[in-house]
Amino acid sequence: MDEHLISTINKLQDALAPLGGGSQAPVDLPQITVVGSQSSGKSSVLENIVGRDFLPRGTGIVTRRPLVLQLINKRPLKTANTSLIDIKTVGQDGLKTENNTEEYGEFLHLPDKKFYNFEDIRQEIVKETDKMTGKNAGISAIPINLRIYSPHVLTLTLVDLPGLTKVPVGDQPKDIEKQIREMIMKFISKPNAIILSVNAANQDLANSDGLKLAREVDPEGTRTIGVLTKVDLMDKGTDVIDILAGRVIPLRYGYVPVINRGQRDIEQNKTIKDALQNEKQFFENHASYASKSHYCGTPFLAKKLNSILLHHIKTTLPEIKNRIETALSKYSNELATLGTEVMDSPSSIILNTITDFCNDYNSILNGQSKDISSNEL
Ligand code: GDP
Ligand code: NA
Ligand code: MG
Repeated sequence: MDEHLISTINKLQDALAPLGGGSQAPVDLPQITVVGSQSSGKSSVLENIVGRDFLPRGTGIVTRRPLVLQLINKRPLKTANTSLIDIKTVGQDGLKTENNTEEYGEFLHLPDKKFYNFEDIRQEIVKETDKMTGKNAGISAIPINLRIYSPHVLTLTLVDLPGLTKVPVGDQPKDIEKQIREMIMKFISKPNAIILSVNAANQDLANSDGLKLAREVDPEGTRTIGVLTKVDLMDKGTDVIDILAGRVIPLRYGYVPVINRGQRDIEQNKTIKDALQNEKQFFENHASYASKSHYCGTPFLAKKLNSILLHHIKTTLPEIKNRIETALSKYSNELATLGTEVMDSPSSIILNTITDFCNDYNSILNGQSKDISSNEL
């Protein structure tokens, strides 16, 4: 049921995308939005959560349009001539074979194309970014929508954003800082946004612009979770224990320390699998983290995000439902006055999706109310 609920929300997000997701949209759908300074490791964190190489990342301003990334957990189909092991192995090579229909990406702007090769996904993101922004470091607030279906991901919706930057480079306008700030605010000020505040551990948390923005829209810290990257680059003898213990800038959901691949790892094509293994070993063998290593690292972060997202969806469902019902009657009236020939129009797709959503919601209320009140955090 939980997976089904999130996938319905994902469908709604697609249906509403043409409306621009701004104040026009009838609902603010729950999603996890990544915020932090340029090069703090936002794209790297997202890639590690997905477990695949597919995002443009590196030094400088690489992410220049919002990327709305829907991860959908899809269990492999077991068929007579296909073992699970085969699918997995093939999937990890990113090759398309007859049986490898299990792990692929789809862009909203290319609805009929399935991407089985994740390097092609990266190139498509770069191409789409350049199309809107020019090649010379310009930015655009128009999102790229990507879905990834995989048996290896938890069902989550994530938004990757350009990082906060102060000094314009290339073709960037003089007011780049303001533009990026406004773009970030548009995403994180929605009450349904969960803010993933990414901060490099080798930089002073008190100066974190990302955390400052997060606190502006979420002063109580009820929808902000902290991530500390680059723990491997901290000076010897220093650690993030004070931050984890809530003694620096406390967050209700706390902080998770992670280690992503460094620039050299990227150049040497180190795999995510190896990187996750290194991360695990680092925390298990480090004097400061060994006793709490199961609260450190990317797998723990992914699990925590998934349960925060579900919790958040369930607590905001009544509000979402109200807004959807208002939109529903508005669209119904509009459709009734327009006649039947519009039944394939975008608004009728939205109408159908909203109806599905309300049905899901009702079946949760009727059948699984204990599930809603259970605290899984
Ligand atoms: P973004 O601009 O916030 O999206 O950051 P990126 O994910 O593009 O990363 C910026 C640079 O920092 C890249 O060269 C990464 O390899 C590097 N980086 C990110 N996270 C870590 C980390 O945990 N450790 C190390 N050593 N390098 C990292
Ligand atoms: Na970067
Ligand atoms: Mg980035």
